[in-house]
Amino acid sequence: MMNREMYEKRMKDEKEKRELVKNDPYRLAYHIQPPMGWLNDPNGLCQIDGTYHIYYQYSPFEPKGGTKLWGHYTTKDFIRFQEHEPFLFADTRADERGVYSGSAFVEDGTIYFFYTGNVKLFDRDDYDYCNNGREQNTILVTSQDGFHHTEKEWLLKNSDYPQDMSTHVRDPKILKRKDTYYMVLGARDQDSHGLLLIYSSKDLRHWSLFDRLSIPDFGYMWECPDLFELDGELFLVFSPQGLEAQGLEYRNVYQTGYCKLELDFDTMEYQFGPFIELDRGFDYYAPQSFLDEQGRRIQFGWMGMGDAPYTNEPTLKYEWQHAFTIPRQLRAKEGRLYQTPLKELEALRNEKKEFSFENFSYAPETKQFELDIHFDHSKPFVLHLNEDIQLSFDGSILSLSMKESGYGRDMRGIELDAIEDLQIFIDASSIEIFVNDGYTVFSSRAYPKEGWKLSLETEARGTIVYYALNKIEVSDGD
Ligand code: FRU
Repeated sequence: MMNREMYEKRMKDEKEKRELVKNDPYRLAYHIQPPMGWLNDPNGLCQIDGTYHIYYQYSPFEPKGGTKLWGHYTTKDFIRFQEHEPFLFADTRADERGVYSGSAFVEDGTIYFFYTGNVKLFDRDDYDYCNNGREQNTILVTSQDGFHHTEKEWLLKNSDYPQDMSTHVRDPKILKRKDTYYMVLGARDQDSHGLLLIYSSKDLRHWSLFDRLSIPDFGYMWECPDLFELDGELFLVFSPQGLEAQGLEYRNVYQTGYCKLELDFDTMEYQFGPFIELDRGFDYYAPQSFLDEQGRRIQFGWMGMGDAPYTNEPTLKYEWQHAFTIPRQLRAKEGRLYQTPLKELEALRNEKKEFSFENFSYAPETKQFELDIHFDHSKPFVLHLNEDIQLSFDGSILSLSMKESGYGRDMRGIELDAIEDLQIFIDASSIEIFVNDGYTVFSSRAYPKEGWKLSLETEARGTIVYYALNKIEVSDGD
């Protein structure tokens, strides 16, 4: 349990932690990160009356994670942010062990927030983590402004999910088609197969099971499903757990990716296209997207990874852990999702320098910058970001290796015929590399010991544009 009073008291008692966080040399300059403590999934993303609301899984007092609340930032331009008090507290019988992930659905000026209320049942005599260890309640609150909400309405509980489900059913997201609302939930059945449950409703309050979708032998749990239409095509983004590594695929703790989905909403027949990993770095998980008022589909991901073996993040000494990636705009092209940095981030650019490929070597003075590399023709290359982080292309595989700066992260890659361009965002402890206009991305936390030192080895020719980046402004909104 963590209600508002408990939170406010601990904020007073543990004030000095906030100051400690600020002293961390690895604190990021232009990413969303928790004011203190732990952050994981993006939640409830929406825009209302011009203001973007960004909520997140938040354990303010436990940098290794604990009872989750919904932390809250707002922005109008993705450059100036305001921090607010948590929006949702773990303060009822239905969510006493955490306000878990969920989403926002905006209609006629009202925001409908759906989330999972988590209850842990550790003290049962017959406790079994998978099949009876939890209650996962689907809960609704509504809001007119994103700051105040109605009482929590308990919509679905364990006994409402199909009988063969384990007690892992969570992370609701809404899609509207014609006059029907569909809610997707990620699930694990009692035989440990991951799947998607779809509920339908005419009024956003009464839900009945519509369909269940699965891919044979594809992980034991599917987390954070996001079902949306983009340019007339239906995509399902989700984070399956339990995939075995195969060649260059799935070489990470857990994956995040998408399938193009053919789903006939009348006959319920469906077919999944191939699963494509959204990101080839080490830290990209549980992303969520939303449609903004300009009609752009914007996605934030958690730049972190659940159950990662690398639990020795240096930021822990400073009482915080994890961040979001920069926001990306999604576009559909040839059945794939392309991801490009949100246009607004161009306003962070300040000092600009241009380089040619020949003998490129540069040690930036700032910790945060952007590097736009254009290849006149594709040839193998090795791009060093410092002494032990490198991006290499051998003519058919593009790979990222991290060594010591990676604190346990090793090597990830993707097969590609050619590299045309790289747009690289570096912050004090993160790298995000957009490849070939957003065909794929590599996102990872990285902790260089002596800053960044760039150089490029290649026979290719091309141009490099460097921009030092400003910090985003974050003010205390309350
Ligand atoms: C994904 C996830 C979700 C869950 C939340 C809890 O990272 O495990 O499935 O709702 O985090 O913090």
